[in-house]
Amino acid sequence: MTEHDPFGLRSLTVEQLRSTPGVKWQQHPGRLASWVADMDFPMAPAISERLGSIVDRGMVGYQKWGAGASPAGHAFVDRMASKYNWNIDVERVHDLADVLQGVRLAIGMLTEPGAGIALHTPAYHPFLHSLTDMDRRLVHAPFDIGELREVIAAERPAALLLCHPQNPTGRVFDRPQLEAIASIVEEFDLIVISDEIHSDLVYSPGQHIPFASVSPAMESRTITVTSTSKAFNLAGLRWAVMHVGIERFDAMLRSYPKHWFGSPNMFGVEAAVAAWAESDDWLAAVMGVLDENRHHLAELLDQYLPGALYRVPDATYLAWIDCSMLGDGDAPFELFQSRGVELSPGTQFGAGGSGHVRLNFATSPSVLEQVVATMAGESLA
Ligand SMILES: Cc1ncc(COP(=O)(O)O)c(C=O)c1O
Repeated sequence: MTEHDPFGLRSLTVEQLRSTPGVKWQQHPGRLASWVADMDFPMAPAISERLGSIVDRGMVGYQKWGAGASPAGHAFVDRMASKYNWNIDVERVHDLADVLQGVRLAIGMLTEPGAGIALHTPAYHPFLHSLTDMDRRLVHAPFDIGELREVIAAERPAALLLCHPQNPTGRVFDRPQLEAIASIVEEFDLIVISDEIHSDLVYSPGQHIPFASVSPAMESRTITVTSTSKAFNLAGLRWAVMHVGIERFDAMLRSYPKHWFGSPNMFGVEAAVAAWAESDDWLAAVMGVLDENRHHLAELLDQYLPGALYRVPDATYLAWIDCSMLGDGDAPFELFQSRGVELSPGTQFGAGGSGHVRLNFATSPSVLEQVVATMAGESLA
């Protein structure tokens, strides 16, 4: 740790990372791990201090949170107001174990089997699996607004599952785009399930705008699901949150017997509070490294893998790279794997994924360079 790198984000080495216990570095031993969306950075000090103090107290019994949202649910309300100028009622906030739980609850309870669900593709693969598992019809949503309207008019889906910012492309929908989407939503009477888990990872001067905040009419049609797990690297703590703008869905959720959906884990709740309320200095440092890495990656690809096409993302630490110069389908993924790098295969993300890989660049600059050199079959050792 140095003045230039107070949180030790830039000095991580492959040797250190190989000894970390998570799935990222343990699932494919021997390969460099640039696949699952976990960062290589250790958690923010305010979070580890808070979790450490719970352990030190030695008491982890039932919590006195009362009915309604947990303290993390309240921290979510404060965060939305202070960072995004979106003022919401805590009564409409529900704690969850993870974001996918909220997405699946909304699809399952608000749409019927066979219903169309519009989704921008390529798409985060658990969304694709969710639709298949739940017998819903995937409606491919184009990014172009004119084309989106045509598809919605023709396919008449029941819902738009918005991934905002988008995984894997790293796109951020700006206000004019969100307003255009909103008018299509209104015209075709859709509900919106907006997964905003990557919202704290928008690069300046971009700005995240919660979809539901576009207008009161949109809020009343939207379920927003998010968590601290991507931006603060807390996925193993299993906590997420859902704002339910759709009144009848809120009533449906509340009509279930107590305990039906479970209740949150105190470590996940306390970590989320420390993340949103006390860790913005750490997040700013992380965004600094990620911002450098997203641009550095463009230079590294030019140097080591000329012909690879990469649009620098506006958000997220995920790079969506067209490597079709190395073949179709998952041929590039398999080649990189054989050279010693584990990426996410493009076809996993559905339409538009052939010849692509997704690379997670949330690591130190030197590990990133090692990853790209290894993809090219060169060794920096
Ligand atoms: C868009 C998106 N939604 C949801 C998740 C997973 O969140 P959770 O583990 O809370 O379900 C991810 C993880 O990468 C993601 O990228």
